[in-house]
Amino acid sequence: MSLTIAGLRALQILDSRGVPTLEVEVRLSNGVSATAQVPSGASTGRYEAVELRDGDPDRYAGKGVTQACRNVENEIAAAVTGLDAGDQASVDRRMIELDGTPSKSRLGANAILGVSCAVARAASQCKGEPLWQTLSCQFGTKPTLPLPMVNILSGGLHAGRQVEFQDFLAVAHGLPTYSESLHAIVSIHRETRKILDDRGFLLTGVADEGGWGPVLPSNEAALAILTQAIERAGFRPVQEVSIAIDAASSHFHDGGRYVLRSEGRTLEVDELIDLYATWADRYPIRSLEDGLDQDDWAGWVRLTQRLGGRMQLIGDDFFTTNAGRLQQGIAQGAANAVLVKMNQIGTLTETFEVLALAAQAGWRAVVSARSGETEDSFLADLACASGAGQIKVGSVTRSSRLSKYNRLLALERDSQLTWTASSPWF
Ligand code: PGA
Ligand code: ZN
Repeated sequence: MSLTIAGLRALQILDSRGVPTLEVEVRLSNGVSATAQVPSGASTGRYEAVELRDGDPDRYAGKGVTQACRNVENEIAAAVTGLDAGDQASVDRRMIELDGTPSKSRLGANAILGVSCAVARAASQCKGEPLWQTLSCQFGTKPTLPLPMVNILSGGLHAGRQVEFQDFLAVAHGLPTYSESLHAIVSIHRETRKILDDRGFLLTGVADEGGWGPVLPSNEAALAILTQAIERAGFRPVQEVSIAIDAASSHFHDGGRYVLRSEGRTLEVDELIDLYATWADRYPIRSLEDGLDQDDWAGWVRLTQRLGGRMQLIGDDFFTTNAGRLQQGIAQGAANAVLVKMNQIGTLTETFEVLALAAQAGWRAVVSARSGETEDSFLADLACASGAGQIKVGSVTRSSRLSKYNRLLALERDSQLTWTASSPWF
């Protein structure tokens, strides 16, 4: 079946932070049309594909995407019209060539990704099959229902830098189904609030990804509170629920050292690795993301030698969903897992290349949203299609997050996808 692309439209919409982003609509010659909305990060890595922003200080503080929208409707539309929407790789390749830059900075990775995702969705609609199935057929993957890694407490850039570490997450890996896992997480989220209230930690409200963003006395306090919340919610740490940290350490790295301003101390690389080891002894931590800076390759190798046997060590800003960087990490033994964010690289085809590379190396992968999200549930289908087995979307509040969790609930009911998670997780 040939699904010929007939035209594109783009709309400047707002993301979950009130920042402009794109909604792209693709129209096929058979009359079918589909849209996709583009996510956007705040704690971005240095090596990410580049979002095109207008830079006009009088409009949305320079963050408008009207030029990116024009690029979709003019240059990109001219290049992809007539192509087969059922051949994702060809559409993506055409856009990569048209852009011509390694970082997609000319047309904008946000413009290109919007088209890439809308095309996939249009193809799935034409075929009358769920999006995850279309993606999995296109890229030859074995789909599964992913285990969610869920933000409960936030710090860093997502919560006014009250503490430096960006995310304290819960992973309910020892539950029999996806919906039971989600239920456990919601209980833990609720218990966390009670503990914060009881202890009088000022609640500054909800952070960018929907989790709690309290003023805490230290980074370690977050781990103690989360561990207690897991127990109070009635779950067994390690056997049923473990903790994951996203340190996002590039954002408190300065001059080769790690500045914990909230604690009045600065750590050398190996002191920070020691701290992680100490925390892993005290708390049920089984996953650590961006434990070290995005350029500290030697440190990452030492971190992996020290802790890689006891936990998942994920590169986010470190790899930026970039096959070249991931290849280097695999070759050096720096990290043992990769965070996969489609807008870090800019097309679905390249996103699946990174997933395939990780799978070949026997590495784990976590399919992830951004802190700036939309109501689009695309990521839920992407996570299923990838077969990666893990998804990271933020907390269990705010519809930008729940659109993904709720889509997974529907897929659990309606699809034959298997749930692979259950203890032991690591
Ligand atoms: P970002 O944060 O989307 O703001 O980059 C998410 C993360 O660091 O995982
Ligand atoms: Zn991260």
